Order: sequence, then structure tokens, then C-alpha cells
Amino acid sequence: MSSGLRDSFGREIRDLRISVTDRCNFRCLYCLPETEEASNFYRATRGKQEGEPAPEKIRYTWKPRKEILTYEEIHRFVSIAASLGVEKLRITGGEPLLRHELPRLIQGLSQIDGIQDLALTSNGFSFARHANALKEAGLNRMPFSLDSLDPVNFHKMTGRNGLEEVLESIQLAKRLSFEPIKVNAVVIRDMNDHELEALVEFGRSQGIVMRFIEFMPLDAGKAWQKEKVVSRDEMLEKLCSRFDLVALPQKHAAETAQRWRHADGRGEIGIVAPVSAPFCGHCNRIRLTADGQLRTCLFSHHEHDFKSLLRQNASDQALEDLLVHAVRGKEKGHSIGQASFVQPDRTMSFIGG
Ligand code: GTP
Ligand code: 5AD
Ligand code: SF4
Repeated sequence: MSSGLRDSFGREIRDLRISVTDRCNFRCLYCLPETEEASNFYRATRGKQEGEPAPEKIRYTWKPRKEILTYEEIHRFVSIAASLGVEKLRITGGEPLLRHELPRLIQGLSQIDGIQDLALTSNGFSFARHANALKEAGLNRMPFSLDSLDPVNFHKMTGRNGLEEVLESIQLAKRLSFEPIKVNAVVIRDMNDHELEALVEFGRSQGIVMRFIEFMPLDAGKAWQKEKVVSRDEMLEKLCSRFDLVALPQKHAAETAQRWRHADGRGEIGIVAPVSAPFCGHCNRIRLTADGQLRTCLFSHHEHDFKSLLRQNASDQALEDLLVHAVRGKEKGHSIGQASFVQPDRTMSFIGG
């Protein structure tokens, strides 16, 4: 079926990412940096100023709960999007598992006609408490984030101690057959790039797909620097000197990751390279923020206010019209690394990874 959501470049929208909360229990330095270590890391990269005081801990203010979409509002939005061709849903945050009664949302969404894939991206810290209920509610897959296997480095990257909990969550997801299990690591130079090989070994031994993501300028501190990005080619060179990897064909054009398999048949890895090899030309994604704004690109500077429409009891036709209009104006792509690039005001915790 062709999608009723086609942009001005001919791209058909099939994938909707929904952030259900802007709150998070981690403070990853590429997203919500908070710790002194994170500040020091960024200060070191831009050069410390003479007499600069010690960094203060950043305190985030979250959106008041009344501004966050209710499950009923999300359900209504998704029903409209699905009737126009959206097939794939990704629940994100912030940390989606912090949202109260999340399985209730999942159960409702899993029953919407046309939805073929329903996944939840989590940092994994509190998955154990919710795992069975999520499975019963109809969740298909659980991609986790895991940037380091070393407890000290894990704390540096995420601002929290939680490695053990995340590793246990991955085991539990395996036992509950949330397959295939993909684990995402954002790679930052001088932070965790020395762990690439260990993470690949980990994926191989656990039968999970490790995916390495280039660091994007979406951090709340707006401290991203190109020098800190480890490019796909650099990662690949490093990995190929240690492992015998064979490139795999793309499953579909809109896939974010390029994939390789180990020549001995034991395992697969992926690299998501939005900075060095942008994949905007085949992008089929849109994003709904926790406070009900539709973004047609991760790097959008303009949002479409669905919350107001939903709360004014607008007709289905009015919601459909705004969605079709918003998609028509989807950006061609981003310009990370170029002089014209302007970082969006919202961080990943709002937009949804
Ligand atoms: P599946 O591959 O279906 O399991 O989905 P997933 O959500 O696990 O992974 P996906 O490949 O969709 O996203 C992984 C990471 O890629 C995200 O956390 C982002 O860092 C990045 N990413 C995803 N979508 C986009 C996009 O549209 N643009 C850019 N620049 N990066 C993206
Ligand atoms: N660069 C790249 N990926 C990011 N994510 C969050 N912030 C960034 C960033 N600055 C992605 C990571 C994380 C998911 C929630 O969003 O993959 O696991
Ligand atoms: Fe799509 Fe924007 Fe990501 Fe490019 S940067 S792939 S257009 S969401």
C-alpha cells in the first residue's frame, strides 16, 4: 500500500518515533550531561579558560506533567498516522520506562490496524521491573543503549552506576525472546572508542547485534565537536584489523545502520553514520515529542503543534490535514559539520532517539 504521507522529495513516511517523557534516570554526556566529569570532558575539548571556575552541576527542568501527551492522545495520533501508512512505531524518551503504566500504552498501540513493528528504546536500567508486563502487552523488540563495559567508564558516559543492571536487562530480554536484540553504543573519541573491540566481542558472545553510532550534535550542553566524532571508516578500519567482517546488503533503503557479519558466521554488527555518511535521502521517519509536537527531522527548527489540536477536540480530518501538510514540508536532510548547521534547541531526550 502506498503511504498517504509523502514528502516533497518523494519519501514515504512509515516510521513514527514517539517520545513519552523528557525525563531520564541517566545523564549521558552526549545527551543530558550533568556530572563534573562531563563538564571537564567538554571543557578539555574546547580548551580551558584561564581562571575558569569549577563547573557547576547542570540541573534540568522537565516539562510539567500536564504538558505531556496522555496515552489517549498518543493513541489517537497513532491511529491517524497508521491510517495514512505508518507501520513502525518506536517508543523512546528520555527513558520511556520512567513513564507510569507504560504497558497500558503499549497494549493499546499494538492493537492499532497497520502497526507491524512496535519497539521500545531504553537504557535498560529498570527493565527487569517491567519486562513481563511489556511482553504481555505486545511489545515486539527492545533495543538497549550500552556505551561501555567498564563500570568506571560506564559512569563517565552515563553519569550513573548501572552497568550490572543493564547487562542483566539484556539477558532478561533474551530469555523473553525480544529478538533480535540490538544494543546501541554512541562512540566518542577519547571516551569509549578504545572499547569498540570489547563491545563487538560482547555482542558476539551474547548473540546480540552491537551497533555503533556516530556522535551527533544533539547534546544539551551544545558542546559537540567534530573532532570527537569517530567516523564509520575509522571504526571499520579498527574493527577489520581485529575481526574478519563481511558487508551485508541493506534490508531496506530507509535502514539507518550499515551491517557486517563475522566471516565465521558468529554474529553481526552495525554502524549508524549520520555524520560521515548521511542517510537522509531515504529517511522515512517522523517524531512526536513528549509534549505533542511533530518534528519531521531530528534536526528540525520548526515543530507542528498536535497537542493543541488534540486538546481542542479537533476532528480526525483536521489532524490528518496537519499531518499531511507537516510531512510535505519535511526537510531534505541535515547539514552537520557544515558552516550553515544550527543545532536544534531540543535535545534527544525530548525528540526521541
Ligand atoms: P531498528 O533498527 O528498527 O531496531 O531501530 P532502532 O531504533 O534500534 O534503531 P535505529 O537504527 O532506528 O536508530 C538507532 C540510532 O540511529 C538512534 O538512536 C539515533 O542515534 C540514530 N538515528 C535514528 N534515526 C535517525 C535519523 O532519522 N537521523 C539521524 N541522523 N540519526 C538517526
Ligand atoms: N548522538 C548520537 N546518538 C545519540 N543518541 C542520543 N543522543 C545522541 C547523540 N548526541 C541516541 C543513542 C541513544 C539513543 C536514546 O539516542 O543511540 O542510545
Ligand atoms: Fe531523516 Fe533528518 Fe535524520 Fe536525515 S537527519 S535521516 S532527514 S531525521
